[in-house]
Amino acid sequence: FAKLPLKHKKFLITAGPTYEAIDPVRFIGNHSSGKMGYEIAKTALQLGAEVVLISGPTSMALEHENLKIIQVNTAQEMLREAENYFDEVDVFIAAAAVADYRPASVASEKIKKADTHLTIELVKNPDILATLGKRKKDQIVIGFALETENGVENARKKLEAKNLDFIVLNSLKDKGAGFKKDTNKISIIYPGSIKEFDLKSKTEVAADIINELIPLLNA
Ligand code: PMT
Repeated sequence: FAKLPLKHKKFLITAGPTYEAIDPVRFIGNHSSGKMGYEIAKTALQLGAEVVLISGPTSMALEHENLKIIQVNTAQEMLREAENYFDEVDVFIAAAAVADYRPASVASEKIKKADTHLTIELVKNPDILATLGKRKKDQIVIGFALETENGVENARKKLEAKNLDFIVLNSLKDKGAGFKKDTNKISIIYPGSIKEFDLKSKTEVAADIINELIPLLNA
């Protein structure tokens, strides 16, 4: 890296899961620890960027004079905060694992145990990345794709549908990749090409991703 290649650049990053309440004690969530998104934020800060990190519930911690962390629970809250900052940033990276659906209504009291079956109606959450991808002007917009099958094909569809500059594919089929672990194995997919990377620490993966976007920023 050149000394501070991201000085004067503003990053918006989402990280972690979202929690969608069912009742006062229960929620729908997922296994995201936030590590991947926080590592990207850390690397961007080390290279001189200003970072707004919108984080779902995690046990991660990060402090830096050029960092603003906004804690949220739900996809709707994450969208609202991301929309607040999007127009003023140079780069948006969506590393969060956002719940695609939320309960149609949140019970005001704890749901009692009664019958053998319980049905919870779900409604679709807004897609944060697609919403901001559509709104992009000069921003570099980067998404992740977490897949369990047909990874490249599904990632390419998301790349196009969400109007991204590139998409980072991680597959739960690859050992050491994805949720919670300290490692990840990614492919970076552009409209016309694909770069595959070895299994590495999430710190190194973050550096690979930032390294990949620097030329786009300066283009
Ligand atoms: O947090 P870790 O434990 O370190 O794990 C890292 C990770 C596996 C969560 C991360 O590397 C990752 O893949 N994040 C994206 C997970 C995901 O939700 O992928 P997806 O293929 O369902 O979504 C595609 C993209 O759209 C993602 O950039 C996602 O942030 C975004 N999205 C999805 C749905 C939605 N409603 N809003 C979104 O912005």
